[in-house]
Amino acid sequence: MTAEIISGTAIAQELRNQLLSDIKSLANQSIVPGLAVVLVGNNPASRTYVKNKQKACEKLGIESRLVELEEAASEQELLEVIKELNNDKAIDGILVQLPLPPHIDETKVIEAISPEKDVDGFHPINIGRMMTGQACFLPCTPFGIIKMFESIDYSLSGKHVVVIGRSNIVGKPMGQLCLSKNATVTYCHSKTPDLKEFTTQADVVISAVGKTGLITKDHIKEGAVVIDVAMNRDENGKLCGDVLFDEVKEKASYITPVPGGVGPMTITMLLYNTVQSAKAKL
Ligand code: GUN
Repeated sequence: MTAEIISGTAIAQELRNQLLSDIKSLANQSIVPGLAVVLVGNNPASRTYVKNKQKACEKLGIESRLVELEEAASEQELLEVIKELNNDKAIDGILVQLPLPPHIDETKVIEAISPEKDVDGFHPINIGRMMTGQACFLPCTPFGIIKMFESIDYSLSGKHVVVIGRSNIVGKPMGQLCLSKNATVTYCHSKTPDLKEFTTQADVVISAVGKTGLITKDHIKEGAVVIDVAMNRDENGKLCGDVLFDEVKEKASYITPVPGGVGPMTITMLLYNTVQSAKAKL
C-alpha cells in the first residue's frame, strides 16, 4: 500500500482562507484581532518562531504586537508585562514564547496569563477545561492534528492511537483529544521498553519525540495512519521528522511529511484561537 500524503500546507491554507473571511466580517464591526507575542532573551530558534508567527498574523490582518525583554529581565518585570496585556482591550491573545531563561518560573508565568487570552492553551484552567470537555483554547499542535483528521474525514472513534511523547504541549493533550473522539489511547515515551510492541498494534501512530529515524516500516501496521510532529535535521542538515518517510509511506494509508505536515497547522491554529478570542467580544 502506498500512503496518501496529508498536506498540512494545503489544509492550513484552506483554514486561513476561512479565517480571512471571519477577520473581514470582524473588521466591518470595527474589530481587529490582536495577538501579543512576548519574547524574553535571544534564543535564535525562538526569534525565528516569533518572526514566523508575526508574519502569519500580518498576512491575515491580525494585529501582532511584539514585546521584547532582555535575557536578564526579572520574573517580576515579565509578570508586569502580562498584567498590562491582560487588561489591554486591543489584545485578544497573549503568547509567551517558551523556553524562558532559567531564572524565570515558567509555570508562574503561564498561570499569570488570563485564561480568556491564553491562545496557546497552556493555562491549567484551559487544560482542565480540555480534560473535562468544556469549551476552551486547545493547544495549537494537537488541535491542528485533529483538524488534519477531520480534513481527511478519518473517524478516530474505536481506533487505537499510540502517542509517542508526553510533553505538556503536544503528547499529553494529543492523547486527551483523541480520547475525547472515542479513540483508545496508549502513551509511549523514553522509558517504554519496546516501542514496536505498541506501535505495531496501532491504527494511528503520532510521533512527537525529536529523534530522526525513530519510526521505521517495522514499527507500523499495514494501513496505519502516521503523523509526524517532529522537526529534526538529518546528517546533511535537511529538515526531517521522527519517521523514515520513504519506507513508511509504502506501508501506511496516510502519512504527514516533514516539512509541510504538522508544522503549518500549528501556526494556523494559533491564528484560529486568536480570531475566536476576538469573536468572543461580539
Ligand atoms: N515554544 C515552542 N513551541 C511553542 C508554542 O507552541 N508556544 C509557545 N508559547 N512557545 C513555544
